[in-house]
Amino acid sequence: MVDTESISITRTAKSRLSKTDFDNLSFGQVFTDHMFMADYRDGQWKNLRIVPYGNIQISPATPALHYGQSIFEGMKAYRAEDGGALVFRAADNLKRMNISAERMCMPALPEDIFMDALSTLVDLDREWIPEQEGSSLYIRPFMFSADEFIGIRPSLDFTFMILLSPVGPYYSTPVKVKIETHYTRATEGGTGFAKAGGNYGGAIYPAKLAQDQGFHQLIWTDGKNHEYVEESGTMNLMFVINNTLLTPALSDSILAGITRQSVLDLARHWGMHVEERKISVIELVAALKQGRVQEAFGAGTAATIAHIELVGYENEKFMLPPVESRTFSNRVLNELENIKRGKIQPPFDWIYKI
Ligand code: COI
Repeated sequence: MVDTESISITRTAKSRLSKTDFDNLSFGQVFTDHMFMADYRDGQWKNLRIVPYGNIQISPATPALHYGQSIFEGMKAYRAEDGGALVFRAADNLKRMNISAERMCMPALPEDIFMDALSTLVDLDREWIPEQEGSSLYIRPFMFSADEFIGIRPSLDFTFMILLSPVGPYYSTPVKVKIETHYTRATEGGTGFAKAGGNYGGAIYPAKLAQDQGFHQLIWTDGKNHEYVEESGTMNLMFVINNTLLTPALSDSILAGITRQSVLDLARHWGMHVEERKISVIELVAALKQGRVQEAFGAGTAATIAHIELVGYENEKFMLPPVESRTFSNRVLNELENIKRGKIQPPFDWIYKI
């Protein structure tokens, strides 16, 4: 274990906590008093430090800015009834971050550094964990190349950071989504399975076109023939059809969502029939036309479970059954909320207590 003493802490001289309106939090706009930083130099993670939240200095030549060599994670912390902090499936986020790091030619982050950084930072800013229903402390670990070099080659220097942000709900209403058959989020052999910044940057324009047409987000389809549905916006995609929970099987172009896995784990634990497989646009549209889609939702850390109320395809729009009638997604949403807040014991070892 890295000794926590090896993380130097510089406290803020002026906390912004009392000025923060916890009753009106939106997503990702407010940051806590402190942030974690570490530098990768000469093949080692060094200079582990917690500093007041603020702007950082980087070289204007860094490959992160020019070539998008940057990866991130998303996690959430909740306040336990005894005042402690509970983090959901933290070790799984680290595992995924290291998978992303390998794909993007970046160094792995050792578990002891990641866990100590997370615990020390969340503990220091624990007063920032919102208690309001639907709110939580969003945790954003990220890593970027920090070389001063404008050529293309594997970088040598990197920075790892963690930001904390008290957040309200990501979506305030059920979402309208459009099946995208022209633009592509990810393709075979690409970086879709990694949480690489560029995957998200490239998705903004097609999503904006859909937003201009009154949708919240897209349902992404495969990059080859746009034949199979893959993800929705920044979330994994799930349906209940014939009382079966259906989701696209993981592949090169689909992120292995931790909320996705948690939903599947709970569904199987409850004895529900689950299928992880390719779902074609033809199959989905036929089920929508015939009114066989009982439930549709996105699953992600930021949004948790985002009910889909309408699916657009070409010139047609299909309304889904009312949210109140959706037995599975409402049950899994409540169960996950109660588990994350420590109100019930999960059937799996999912909670990291700080
Ligand atoms: C998350 O669910 O944590 C995400 O990655 C969404 C984020 C891009 C806002």
